[in-house]
Amino acid sequence: MPQWIEGRVVGRRDWNGRMVTLQVEAPIEPYRAGQFIQLGLEIEGEVVGRPYSLVNPPDARPLEFCFNIVPGGPLSGRLAALEAGEPVLVARRALGFLTVDEVPAARRHLWLVSSGTGIGPFLSILRSEAPWARFERVVLVHAARRAADLLYGEAIAAIAAARGERFRFVPFVSREATDFALPGRIPDAIADGALEARAGLAISLAASHFMLCGNPAMVEDVTFALEGRGLRKHQRKMPGHIAVENYW
Ligand SMILES: Cc1cc2nc3c(=O)[nH]c(=O)nc-3n(C[C@H](O)[C@H](O)[C@H](O)COP(=O)(O)OP(=O)(O)OC[C@H]3O[C@@H](n4cnc5c(N)ncnc54)[C@H](O)[C@@H]3O)c2cc1C
Ligand SMILES: NC(=O)c1ccc[n+]([C@@H]2O[C@H](COP(=O)([O-])OP(=O)(O)OC[C@H]3O[C@@H](n4cnc5c(N)ncnc54)[C@H](OP(=O)(O)O)[C@@H]3O)[C@@H](O)[C@H]2O)c1
Repeated sequence: MPQWIEGRVVGRRDWNGRMVTLQVEAPIEPYRAGQFIQLGLEIEGEVVGRPYSLVNPPDARPLEFCFNIVPGGPLSGRLAALEAGEPVLVARRALGFLTVDEVPAARRHLWLVSSGTGIGPFLSILRSEAPWARFERVVLVHAARRAADLLYGEAIAAIAAARGERFRFVPFVSREATDFALPGRIPDAIADGALEARAGLAISLAASHFMLCGNPAMVEDVTFALEGRGLRKHQRKMPGHIAVENYW
C-alpha cells in the first residue's frame, strides 16, 4: 500500500460521458514527466487505490488525471463522480519508467503512441522541456474509435504551435470516416507505410525510440509490428527501442 496523503479535487472535465479529467491539489513528491501515481478512495471501510498517469507536466499544478469510466469497476466511476472541493487520496510518490531519461542516448526521434486515455503520460512529457532538450523530432500518435473520443485537442494544438516542424501529431479514428485522421489501426499503418508518410519521418533502428501506452491489445500489436521492422523492447540491461505501459 502506498503512503497516502489527502488531496482535494479542484476541477473536472467530462469529455464524452465515458472519459473524465480530474484536477487535484496534493503535495506529492517531485516526479518525472511520464510517471503515474495511485489515487484512492475509502469504499466500505477500505481504501481502494489504482494507478493513474499524471497528465500535467511536473512543474505545473494542479495535478491532472484523465481516465475511462469502467462500467462495474470499483474506483473509476466513483472518482469520476467527484466534484470540486471533495477529498481524494493521493500516493506521496509517483512511479514508472515511461520517461525521457530512460531512452538510450543515441536515439534522435521519439514516437509517442497511445490509444484512448493512454495519451495522458505523453501530454505530460510533451508539455515538459525534457523531450525538446533531447530529440530532434517528436511524433504523437493517438488512436480513438470516433473523432469525439480524441482528447486534449487544444493542448495538442498549443504544442504544435510552440514546436513547429519538430512536432507532428498523427490521429487515428477507426470507426468513422474523417477528413483529418488516418483510418484503421496503427499496426496496419506501420506495415503499409502510412504512419511514416503522415509523420514525415522514417522508422529507423538507429534513430527511433517508441513509447506505447493504453489498451494492452494495441500495445501488443504495435510492438509486434515494430519488431517486424527489427526494433526491440527496451530494457535497462539491454537497450532497445520500445518502452510500454499497459493500462489493464
Ligand atoms: C501504470 C498504470 C497507469 C494507469 N493509468 C491510467 C490512466 O491514466 N487512465 C486510465 O483511464 N486508466 C489508467 N489505468 C487503469 C486504472 O488504474 C484502473 O484500472 C481503471 O481506472 C479502472 O479502475 P476500476 O477500479 O474502476 O476498475 P478495475 O478493477 O481496475 O478494472 C476492471 C477492469 O476494467 C478494465 N480496465 C481497466 N482500466 C481500463 C481503462 N483505462 N480503460 C478501459 N478498461 C479498463 C480491465 O479489463 C479491468 O480488469 C492505469 C493502470 C496502470 C497499471
Ligand atoms: N460503450 C461504448 O460506447 C464504448 C466506446 C468505446 C470504448 N468502450 C470501452 O472502453 C474501453 C477503452 O476504450 P478506448 O476508447 O479507450 O479505447 P479502445 O477501445 O482501446 O480503442 C481506441 C483505439 O485503439 C484501437 N485498437 C483497439 N485494439 C487494438 C489493437 N489490438 N491494435 C491496434 N489498435 C487497437 C481501436 O481500434 P478499433 O476501433 O479497430 O477497435 C481504436 O482506434 C474499450 O475497450 C471498451 O471496453 C466502450
